[in-house]
Amino acid sequence: MKKKIGILVSGRGSNMLAIIKASKESTFPGEVAIVISDNPDAPALKKAQDNGVKAIYIDPGRKGAYLSTQAETQYAEVLKKHGVDIVVLAGFMRIIRKPLLSAFPNSIINIHPSLLPAFPGLNAQKQALDYGVKVAGCTVHFVNEDVDAGPIIIQSCVPVLQDDTPETLSQRILKEEHKILVEAVKLLCEERIKIEGRRVLILPQQG
Ligand code: GAR
Repeated sequence: MKKKIGILVSGRGSNMLAIIKASKESTFPGEVAIVISDNPDAPALKKAQDNGVKAIYIDPGRKGAYLSTQAETQYAEVLKKHGVDIVVLAGFMRIIRKPLLSAFPNSIINIHPSLLPAFPGLNAQKQALDYGVKVAGCTVHFVNEDVDAGPIIIQSCVPVLQDDTPETLSQRILKEEHKILVEAVKLLCEERIKIEGRRVLILPQQG
């Protein structure tokens, strides 16, 4: 049976769209059950609806990095109500805490636009450029109580070019984000991911 995926978004939604598009393939092992945004104006909401996926705004309850406890409990309840097995943070600009983490143990993943553990937090691509690294990239990781710090599932790297701006570097990284996020969601849906301490093992395909 296909796993049910819930996606949390705050803005543009290109990573979300990559998952929705992949999930329309008949062989993809998951389907997107619900998209939730903490931002009523997120373009992602309309993009999801245009692609036939239910997408709603839920009031985050407060400004800043966190959802209010009450709001986060509501997010968890709505995801559960839609039968969600796997939660994907796809450009969701809030830090997740207990209500969601304990409702979905080892089942929440995040895409981050740097090669973690380098450059966690906001504006990761600009941080990489300012630091002067020659290779940048992106990471899909499990979400735990620390910011951008859970076990790493997949990473992909891109070169940093001499004339890069934060925008050109972000574009190059984004193309890789779409690929590794879809791949990680697929692996999770296929139950081919095993966490051993900080290390994530990818199990071979059945059959
Ligand atoms: C992506 O680059 C994603 O990695 C980043 O926000 C962008 C969202 O774009 N997320 C973070 O920085 C989280 N710390 P999208 O809405 O088009 O997917």
